[in-house]
Amino acid sequence: MNEIETVTLGTDAVDIRRAGDILASGGLVAFPTETVYGLGADAGNDRAVARIFEAKGRPSFNPLIVHVTGMSEAKELCAFNDNARALAQAFWPGALTLVLPLRQDAAVSKLVTAGQNTLAIRVPDHPLARDVLTCASVPIAAPSANPSGRISPTRAAHVLAGLAGRIDAVIDGGACAVGVESTIVDCSGAPRLLRAGGVPAEAVEACLPVPLETDPISNDQTPKAPGLLASHYAPKGLVRLNAIEAAEDEIMLGFGETKGDLTLSDRGDLVEAAARLFQCLHRLDQMGAERIAVAPIPLVGLGLAINDRLRRAAAPRP
Ligand code: TXA
Ligand code: MG
Repeated sequence: MNEIETVTLGTDAVDIRRAGDILASGGLVAFPTETVYGLGADAGNDRAVARIFEAKGRPSFNPLIVHVTGMSEAKELCAFNDNARALAQAFWPGALTLVLPLRQDAAVSKLVTAGQNTLAIRVPDHPLARDVLTCASVPIAAPSANPSGRISPTRAAHVLAGLAGRIDAVIDGGACAVGVESTIVDCSGAPRLLRAGGVPAEAVEACLPVPLETDPISNDQTPKAPGLLASHYAPKGLVRLNAIEAAEDEIMLGFGETKGDLTLSDRGDLVEAAARLFQCLHRLDQMGAERIAVAPIPLVGLGLAINDRLRRAAAPRP
């Protein structure tokens, strides 16, 4: 693949306009969302979407989330039922992705859905993401802006470390507040949690008249969200979970009472830990960590998403 020059854009109106123009003309722009940085392309443009897969080295069977500014755009692309409407009302804009039946007339590239008849869709809450979507004025397909299988980016520098020379631009909008990807709920049938994420599963369930089907932490090799392969979010070093202390050759990632060389949250706060998770894994890469021990993280609220990402980071590598 030929290297291209990756421009770093600021957050003023001129730069956001420029990002929108690049997207509208088929380019790739990484931009901050409240969860992680996304790598955007015009969802209706086959060539632009194909460039996402090329830049990330992503298996082409893995479908993408489409980002829109609100419910009216979302309704043009997918069919909403009562459960989907309730969840959109409660959590949009925000860190929730809905998987819904794709409308036949939706102008979405088949590469986005990997040929499936459902679409993953989200309305992000980050003001810069919203401005970029408004300027581009087309639905934007955006996976996390990292090389496939690596740690998701929560800062522009993480994006550049993985994708410089492969994408047209990145908007430097600082650190992402939530820090883990969106929660994905498949509402095309009985509501099912496909990926734990920035909205706690308990909060999703509280908005539904039926229990949320769930099997987010599994080692299934053919998961329903095709991106959920066992090894993912991997730092370069080997990861050992639920460690109380580090062995001599390990660097320790702590949480709460379990102290480390660095910590997800000194005060044992899961929201802070989610926000810092990928930043800490990137930091461990920079430190050249070859073996990483990670403290136990409770399996409640955002702890579900954190444990899910850590399990994938620790899974056997292909
Ligand atoms: O927070 C997020 O969701 C970020 C930001 C940029 O929005 N995006 C993100 O995208 O995490 P990505 O591509 O890294 O993860 C999307 C996940 C993948 O596991 C993919 O398989 C799944 O969503 N997915 C996409 N379309 C789907 C569909 N129609 N049915 C089931 N799973 C789907
Ligand atoms: Mg990803």
